[in-house]
Amino acid sequence: MLSFALGIGTQNGQGDWLEVYYPAPQYGPDATLAETVREALGADRDGEVVSFLPEHCAGLAKALRDGGFTEQAELAESLADAHRPLVAVFLAEDHAPASVPEVYLKLQLLSHRLVKPHGIKLDGMFGLLKNIAWTSEGAIDVEELPGRQLQARLAGRTLSVDCVDKFPKMVDYVVPKGIRIADTARVRLGAYLGEGTTVMHEGFCNFNAGTEGPGMVEGRISAGVFVGKGSDLGGGCSTMGTLSGGNNVIISLGENCLIGANAGVGIPLGDRCTVEAGLYVTAGAKIAVLDADGALVETLAGRDLAGQSDLLLRRNSTSGRIECLTNKSAIALNEALHAHN
Ligand SMILES: CC(C)(COP(=O)(O)OP(=O)(O)OC[C@H]1O[C@@H](n2cnc3c(N)ncnc32)[C@H](O)[C@@H]1OP(=O)(O)O)[C@@H](O)C(=O)NCCC(=O)NCCS
Repeated sequence: MLSFALGIGTQNGQGDWLEVYYPAPQYGPDATLAETVREALGADRDGEVVSFLPEHCAGLAKALRDGGFTEQAELAESLADAHRPLVAVFLAEDHAPASVPEVYLKLQLLSHRLVKPHGIKLDGMFGLLKNIAWTSEGAIDVEELPGRQLQARLAGRTLSVDCVDKFPKMVDYVVPKGIRIADTARVRLGAYLGEGTTVMHEGFCNFNAGTEGPGMVEGRISAGVFVGKGSDLGGGCSTMGTLSGGNNVIISLGENCLIGANAGVGIPLGDRCTVEAGLYVTAGAKIAVLDADGALVETLAGRDLAGQSDLLLRRNSTSGRIECLTNKSAIALNEALHAHN
């Protein structure tokens, strides 16, 4: 069994799921947990997404308690007070998601750190997710927004819209232990932020991407990018994504790397690499590889350096050429900034 979770969600006026919140998603659970829930809800053996009503919660909680699943039993008990749609999701294996509840479960497995980026299939999820207004009154289908805004005004309230997007912010679903995020809207659900990660105001983290932790993020972690332990993404820096523009190489950074302020990486880098502030290293850029005396050894394309460790990449401020030297002084994170997250 890949995953199981009980959730509480939001549907639009047509009964289409907009989002689902899973307080305690399970990864690789005991198969008897899923069996117990299926039996208690009278669900058929193959259904992956099973809707249920608050009145089913007492029976479900009892079955879970009898089966020794105390945490899930307590959750089922608390769902008895729900005024919103309830759902149980059973994922026997990891195939491309076929419904909104499945996508939301997979995104939450990532943000709960139960699965690492690229550790779970998300193919086709954009086509499943609706464009949603994330508001002070929860998720609203954008098509239903004008009506809801009017209703709120008539009742003397202002409906405040935080963003219009397919993804919500991560912290509305889970705040994993030991992190700081200065501006929570900059981290989307599906991000994986390892313990000891600090995301400052200019930092950003997309879904299916993140940090091993500890780490400092003042730049952008694009979808699919993973950053190793002890690395520092300087202010406004960029990691190249694969969702648009034809770049299909997945970017990753190893441990103890420093991507300077306003720099960018379009190739994966190994451990202890430094990219000079302001330099964007792309796969096709010609790079002069220098020896310890500064003499030219060879000229390579950025892609030839992909995945290598101990690189110092800079743009020669006199000649304008990009140079690669051996990085002799890899960074160490400022302990004081990360130790108390
Ligand atoms: C690339 C970088 C790491 C080099 O720093 P460094 O290793 O400390 O190097 P130094 O500045 O001490 O320079 C060492 C030598 O290289 C030379 N040098 C450095 N950068 C150079 C460049 N771009 N072109 C030509 N020469 C350069 C220096 O002039 C110096 O030469 P010298 O020994 O003849 O005096 C640094 O410039 C940088 O960009 N750091 C990123 C910091 C950052 O953005 N942090 C995030 C904050 S949010």
